[in-house]
Amino acid sequence: MTEPWHTKITQINPNEVRVRGYDIAELMGRVSFGASVYLILMGELPSEKVARLMDAIIVSSIDHGATPPSCLAARTVASTGASLSQSVAAGIMSINKHHGGAIENCARQLSEIINRKHAMDISFDEAAKVELDQMKAKGVRMSGFGHRVHTADPRTARLFELATEAGACAEHVLAARAVEQAFIAKGKPLPINVDGAIGAILADLGFPPEIMNGVFMIARVPGLVAHVTEEQSSQKPMRKIDPVNHTYSGPEARTI
Ligand SMILES: CC(C)(COP(=O)(O)OP(=O)(O)OC[C@H]1O[C@@H](n2cnc3c(N)ncnc32)[C@H](O)[C@@H]1OP(=O)(O)O)[C@@H](O)C(=O)NCCC(=O)NCCS
Repeated sequence: MTEPWHTKITQINPNEVRVRGYDIAELMGRVSFGASVYLILMGELPSEKVARLMDAIIVSSIDHGATPPSCLAARTVASTGASLSQSVAAGIMSINKHHGGAIENCARQLSEIINRKHAMDISFDEAAKVELDQMKAKGVRMSGFGHRVHTADPRTARLFELATEAGACAEHVLAARAVEQAFIAKGKPLPINVDGAIGAILADLGFPPEIMNGVFMIARVPGLVAHVTEEQSSQKPMRKIDPVNHTYSGPEARTI
């Protein structure tokens, strides 16, 4: 018999399932979804506060209405008669460097700023300014900044609040703040968006950049499933989907 290949993620034996060593039945009902996402991606259970932060990151990205490219792609494919899995997959495939994927890019760009700060022994503000000038000269945008709709994204403020409570804000968050200040100093305020906040926070939590867009995908799937099933059940096939001209007809604003 050939040598078996190895996986460190989940162990399956008859009547036993262990995720990263933990009995799944012990995790169920005790560990939140955010904590289990952290466990499966990072290999360890997070502290209670980091688990809360992970939950908040996932909730923050669950949906953003009918205009994001992932939603339009999923609805468009659904309107052709595709299945739920095909339609959701189409939405997921549109999560790339300008949508959702800004998380990974932002984290990498913030790391560049941190490296520059240390290499040149300058402040975060100075390093951010130099980095942004160089990016502008190359025609590269700073991922995770700017938004088509929001000037003060309600999700980012809450995420930073929870990250501070969890003691999870370190150099990437400081670098992100310096970028915001640098844009203001240039007379072109570009607020950090939810992707940027998640990128900075996940980087400070030690997530490798190549996993980060996956966190957004994990979070957005429920929203895509809701949009696809609404499309399939209430719209006619092959309709022309206007990306902008639509109204909301769900519940009025309410509180928990
Ligand atoms: C999100 C985004 C597409 C919104 O763009 P928009 O509000 O429609 O703005 P525009 O693309 O028309 O750009 C307007 C100006 O701001 C600049 N700008 C916008 N976002 C910028 C960024 N992140 N970095 C540098 N410059 C930026 C553009 O270069 C442009 O400058 P100009 O007027 O000198 O040509 C844009 O801010 C962006 O590309 N951000 C980075 C990617 C990102 O974070 N995506 C996730 C969104 S949640």
